[in-house]
Amino acid sequence: MLGFRALYHSLRLKVYTVTLSQILATICAFLTTIAAVLLTTKIIPELTTMQIQQESWFGSQQLSASYQDEYSTTREDIGSLLLARRMSNFTYPRHTYADLVFPTLGINYTNWNANISAQVRTPAAKLLPSCVKLSDGDFNVTIKNNTSGGFTATIYQNFTCPSGSSASLDDTLYINATVEKYGLSYVAGLAQSPGNTLDIGPTCHLVLDNDALLNTPWRVQTYVWGKFLNSTMDFDYLSVWRCNYSWAEVTTDVGLVWTNKVIQIDHQNPPTQDNSTIKPWSPPFGFPELGGSQGILPVNEVFPDTEVEDPLVSHLSTQFSVIVEPFGPIQIEDFGKPGQDDEILDELHSNLGFRMGFRLNRFAAHYGRQRKLAAEYGIEGPGT
Ligand SMILES: *[C@@H]1O[C@H](CO)[C@@H](O)[C@H](O)[C@H]1NC(C)=O
Ligand SMILES: *[C@@H]1O[C@H](CO)[C@@H](O)[C@H](O)[C@H]1NC(C)=O
Ligand SMILES: *[C@@H]1O[C@H](CO)[C@@H](O)[C@H](O)[C@H]1NC(C)=O
Ligand SMILES: *[C@@H]1O[C@H](CO)[C@@H](O)[C@H](O)[C@H]1NC(C)=O
Ligand SMILES: *[C@@H]1O[C@H](CO)[C@@H](O)[C@H](O)[C@H]1NC(C)=O
Ligand SMILES: *[C@@H]1O[C@H](CO)[C@@H](O)[C@H](O)[C@H]1NC(C)=O
Ligand SMILES: *[C@@H]1O[C@H](CO)[C@@H](O)[C@H](O)[C@H]1NC(C)=O
Ligand SMILES: *[C@@H]1O[C@H](CO)[C@@H](O)[C@H](O)[C@H]1NC(C)=O
Ligand SMILES: *[C@@H]1O[C@H](CO)[C@@H](O)[C@H](O)[C@H]1NC(C)=O
Ligand SMILES: *[C@@H]1O[C@H](CO)[C@@H](O)[C@H](O)[C@H]1NC(C)=O
Ligand SMILES: *[C@@H]1O[C@H](CO)[C@@H](O)[C@H](O)[C@H]1NC(C)=O
Repeated sequence: MLGFRALYHSLRLKVYTVTLSQILATICAFLTTIAAVLLTTKIIPELTTMQIQQESWFGSQQLSASYQDEYSTTREDIGSLLLARRMSNFTYPRHTYADLVFPTLGINYTNWNANISAQVRTPAAKLLPSCVKLSDGDFNVTIKNNTSGGFTATIYQNFTCPSGSSASLDDTLYINATVEKYGLSYVAGLAQSPGNTLDIGPTCHLVLDNDALLNTPWRVQTYVWGKFLNSTMDFDYLSVWRCNYSWAEVTTDVGLVWTNKVIQIDHQNPPTQDNSTIKPWSPPFGFPELGGSQGILPVNEVFPDTEVEDPLVSHLSTQFSVIVEPFGPIQIEDFGKPGQDDEILDELHSNLGFRMGFRLNRFAAHYGRQRKLAAEYGIEGPGT
């Protein structure tokens, strides 16, 4: 333990007017010693600098034998949190804020009370998407009449297997019979991605290794949404985006307060990230398991089981239903409007970032285990 070290005292009138330049911080990506300013509002507010040690860090974890129990408990929690997120009094889980995940900080100062707050500059982890809109040349769509009414739209994507041979992925969206009654229908779902080893495994006859898949430091998501017209038996609007997500590090200023006898992120004074400091997390680590049909492991999906009751909707995967009214801000009609792509993507990113951040933090909390595994993986461990 580095302990509490008073470096200087200064007099201030207002707690929150402390400038960040006064914070002396030593930051490195993996193991961090952070100096924070501790503020006390007594009659004369007092500033003190202290050093805090990072107690958890982020890295890939080997699959445990009991992963199924652990995974299913966590994802139930995540699912309900996701739905609670829009409530005005929602507070993010400990060590997270929106899509930011913070390391656990070892603050052992025993004199904390409600009159003390601290400002810390710390690296935070967040999922960073990199998206491109696919053009007509990247895929083709084949529409067929469905014998039970409605239509099927199959999206084919050509790609090259690691062996060099040409192959194609196909994903089918069902446009159900209600399209004949209402004249139109909306769809939104996920397609497979040639960039994910999991997705091309069967087609390319690859031998898949769960640990290797879980430790792949990125994840590609191909999003498809659009509006289908009965009259033309075709899409009036169809949008296909391919996003590659990986973990990034961003320097963040965080206010800490003492609430309910624990030190927590100050929601009244939300963390601010310095976007100029964003860089890939080094060393890279795996994208958490999504579960469900999109997942690597046979575990439940990380998304809550939500259903959007709307006769104009034919196909809406759970990643999309959580962003649609009443669960999110997106209107069903937005899936047919060219101008709405960015807003839809932002919602998809923010939900994914929040969910995966929470998941990551659960891992990070396993301090002792993480340390051992870090060594097994040959990743630099903590200093002593
Ligand atoms: C803080 O105290 C806890 C419990 O006493 C201990 O496990 C932890 O290592 C300490 N943290 C630091 C940074 O010394
Ligand atoms: C948040 O508000 C909802 C209803 O508005 C209430 O049911 C819930 O208990 C509140 N939660 C907290 C933590 O105050
Ligand atoms: C916090 O400050 C208030 C007002 O100055 C004081 O009444 C209270 O006792 C202080 N609380 C603690 C735990 O020091
Ligand atoms: C994919 O390849 C097949 C045959 O190799 C070709 O018929 C088809 O047009 C290609 N599709 C796209 C979207 O390039
Ligand atoms: C679409 O791609 C598939 C698979 O590559 C191919 O079999 C089919 O002929 C293509 N359809 C059109 C209309 O290009
Ligand atoms: C679907 O069936 C209708 C007649 O019910 C026909 O006119 C149309 O060409 C068919 N469309 C496709 C894509 O097969
Ligand atoms: C027709 O659509 C249903 C879902 O609405 C699907 O289960 C079924 O396989 C489709 N039939 C064909 C022939 O594509
Ligand atoms: C949908 O198409 C079918 C077949 O062409 C037609 O019978 C039906 O009236 C159409 N429905 C609407 C709402 O236009
Ligand atoms: C995804 O992004 C990562 C990090 O930028 C990169 O290393 C990887 O090659 C990308 N994967 C695909 C399939 O584009
Ligand atoms: C930094 O980026 C986040 C989204 O990634 C955004 O919400 C925030 O406003 C940006 N901050 C600044 C200062 O531009
Ligand atoms: C079509 O989908 C909507 C929305 O999922 C659903 O309410 C409706 O029952 C479906 N209709 C059929 C015929 O499957």
